Amino acid sequence: MEELLHGMRAYGWGIAKNCFGSEEAAALRDACLASRARGDLHRAGVGRGDDMIVREEIRSDSVSWLDEQTPSVDLSRYQILLEKMRKSLNQEFYLGLLDFEGHFAVYPAAGFYKAHLDRPQGTSDRTVAVILYLNEHWQPGDGGELRIWTNRGEKDGPFVMVQPQMGTMVCFLAEHFWHEVLPAHKERMSITGWFRQRSVI
Ligand code: OGA
Ligand code: MN
Repeated sequence: MEELLHGMRAYGWGIAKNCFGSEEAAALRDACLASRARGDLHRAGVGRGDDMIVREEIRSDSVSWLDEQTPSVDLSRYQILLEKMRKSLNQEFYLGLLDFEGHFAVYPAAGFYKAHLDRPQGTSDRTVAVILYLNEHWQPGDGGELRIWTNRGEKDGPFVMVQPQMGTMVCFLAEHFWHEVLPAHKERMSITGWFRQRSVI
């Protein structure tokens, strides 16, 4: 987690490989697969509330919200890590992060999410995006990278690419950093979520 905090301090985004133990990450991957087997995944939309619509040309993932999992899904280890992170971010950056909302996300082969910011129009609560990847043996040729443009507010210029490898975590300021998911050659799984502030809009 220190690597993530260092990145937030220096750049407003951070990447940490092997941030979450491989056994714990594998258990979350299994939970994600079980969620799909139960039919809990639904096509993710774009927008918010009543304006939420599925836009195939923008994103192709299917999601299942963490707070809607059956009690048999044990998220406690991950939640402990997130809670430590929330407190550290608040202590150091005075972000006033209140809680975390997140979902399992599964991209089918060739799935993608076009360049975007993580604040749907008319919202102000999603503050820090946090993604944990759940893909074992991901190879550079497999695609599916997360590209983050590193100049605040710019969908252009320098960027970093993150391989969605099991146990890798990434975080960034949701309001400022444009990012996209490149098409992968195989299915790609993650837990994606956001630490939220009090909404001011
Ligand atoms: C998102 C998102 C990135 C990723 O769900 O908003 O940008 O790497 N996900 O899965
Ligand atoms: Mn995003």
